[in-house]
Amino acid sequence: MSAVPEYNPRQFWKSRDFHNSTRLYFQHWLVQKTLGYVLHPCIPKDRPLRVADLGCGNGAWVIEASHELPSTAELTGFDIAAHNFPAPEFLPPNVKFSILDVMTGACPSDLMETFDVVHIRFFNGIVLNGEVQPLIRTVRKLLKPGGWLQWEEMDPSTLDVRTPRPNIDTAYCEKLIGLILKVGDMTGTKFDWLSNFENELNMFKDVQVRHVPIPPAYHKAWTENYLVLFEEIAERMPRAEDAAPNVPITRESYLDMFEKVIEEVNKGAVLNSKDVIAVVAH
Ligand SMILES: C[S@@+](CC[C@H](N)C(=O)[O-])C[C@H]1O[C@@H](n2cnc3c(N)ncnc32)[C@H](O)[C@@H]1O
Repeated sequence: MSAVPEYNPRQFWKSRDFHNSTRLYFQHWLVQKTLGYVLHPCIPKDRPLRVADLGCGNGAWVIEASHELPSTAELTGFDIAAHNFPAPEFLPPNVKFSILDVMTGACPSDLMETFDVVHIRFFNGIVLNGEVQPLIRTVRKLLKPGGWLQWEEMDPSTLDVRTPRPNIDTAYCEKLIGLILKVGDMTGTKFDWLSNFENELNMFKDVQVRHVPIPPAYHKAWTENYLVLFEEIAERMPRAEDAAPNVPITRESYLDMFEKVIEEVNKGAVLNSKDVIAVVAH
């Protein structure tokens, strides 16, 4: 027998990060279309700003923000993992990326009070048990006195199903949303802090929280964004043969349900959060 293992492309491509990264570019575009801006219009752009993007992923936001600012601006994307950072050789000279855990409440001494703007987007799945204060403490330490915080979130607990016309079944879409929220709850992602956002930010002088509804023309696009995410989640579900008795669902039954969800979506059902929560504070 040969000692060379059989080539299996699915095993070879262990890390399928490009799926996740593609979805983040797409989601970035959707947020811009929903809000109508990259850098919040309140933030003065006529001075050399130092900008930090926390949990920047592939840098979709920070790269686009660099196009809106003069070349004197300096922009840094921070993330706990570097696998989605673009190659520095291809970046504008005033954009860089760096590894940083932003959930500790601490801040490296060389970054203390060095940023005019800190941007955060979509930490709803990262903040565990509602403990958002360590992240906010890190933001305060990164910001110069009087600096600006810009933050966008959606609240998964507001996810719901709509149809353009009556008589379109939504039972499987509703079941999927219920399950996602249940699994989130079991793993500690709770979203009460988002209903209390203004209070969580009460150490800032001036806090504006806006709830921007999803334009109906983008219902299809947001739905597809969620479907890509929810399909990825299947990989984290235990297979029936390995499942403990208390798992809410196995990978096989999840994928069966997902097929039915797609049938409902193909008939016109859409999945949407109520709005995008857009915060600016300083
Ligand atoms: C949902 S993605 C959002 C990416 C980006 N903000 C966007 O909107 O396109 C969350 C990002 O946060 C990063 N992240 C998770 N925990 C983190 C931590 N403790 N410190 C810094 N980044 C973190 C993840 O690696 C991921 O890139």
